[in-house]
Amino acid sequence: MEAQFMSQEGKILAGFVAPHPPHLVYGENPPQNEPVSEGGWEVLRWAYEKVRASIEELKPDVLLVHSPHWITKVGHHFLGVRHLTGKSVDPVFPNLFRYNFDLQVDVVLAEACCAEAQAAGLVSQLMRNPNFRVDYGTITTLHMVRPQWDIPIVGISANNSPYMLRLDESVEQMERLGIATRDAIRKSGKRAVLLASNSFSHHHFRVEPDIPEDMSKEHPQNYRGYKWDVKVIEMMRQGKIRELMEIFPQWVEESYSETKAGSFPWMMAAMDYPSYAAQLHGYGTVIGTGNAVMEWRAAA
Ligand SMILES: [Fe+2]
Repeated sequence: MEAQFMSQEGKILAGFVAPHPPHLVYGENPPQNEPVSEGGWEVLRWAYEKVRASIEELKPDVLLVHSPHWITKVGHHFLGVRHLTGKSVDPVFPNLFRYNFDLQVDVVLAEACCAEAQAAGLVSQLMRNPNFRVDYGTITTLHMVRPQWDIPIVGISANNSPYMLRLDESVEQMERLGIATRDAIRKSGKRAVLLASNSFSHHHFRVEPDIPEDMSKEHPQNYRGYKWDVKVIEMMRQGKIRELMEIFPQWVEESYSETKAGSFPWMMAAMDYPSYAAQLHGYGTVIGTGNAVMEWRAAA
């Protein structure tokens, strides 16, 4: 029976836009994070409660996360060490995020993803340093999605090719990476959840309030970015992903969207540009940046 189960094709159960402002972890006060807050960013944290319920319901074998803050200049890297522990510190907000992490990596699937990416012509490699300090983007997204840390993960770096190549060229790379990821999951027999760890509009305030969690100071940094957030969320809610990818360069340019780092195109390509409606779990700003928590639930 077990052999029969394992021979089944793996699948992507769902994909989430799961942004990583460390403020969300800071606002929650989990035991792993050193700084202590009075709360804050509740609307986004309540949105993540719905994601946590979805993950509980889906019971995936593995969580795959693409993070804009694990930056690798040469190619696409995958965490390749089975057990990683350490302290992850946000270099911009060390006052908010100093998090003691302890996570398990699905190295077999990471190796398979890497091999598929190489076969697709992408420069790719495994990260084998046992003392590697995992970036705050990966950690924040995973904490907000599954604070129990009891599901193995695959961590994928941001090659950030969009910052070095032309945007259309680099998006094409991220799409190839997405297809390679999907192929690796299918062959693995595993049930996977994808996490695109990025904000949308990404202009932010230059000065932090005296009390960072003072929500009377929180609002969109600019109107144009907010309008783009609403526009793309509506398109996602209507299943218009292919149409959205047509205007991806304009979206990135005009709202300075963090999707430029590649997480969103990676996930959409892996899910074959869903034409069904995404569910919006919540939207809010963090030091002025626009953050949506969204779910695409694949058909059972
Ligand atoms: Fe970020």
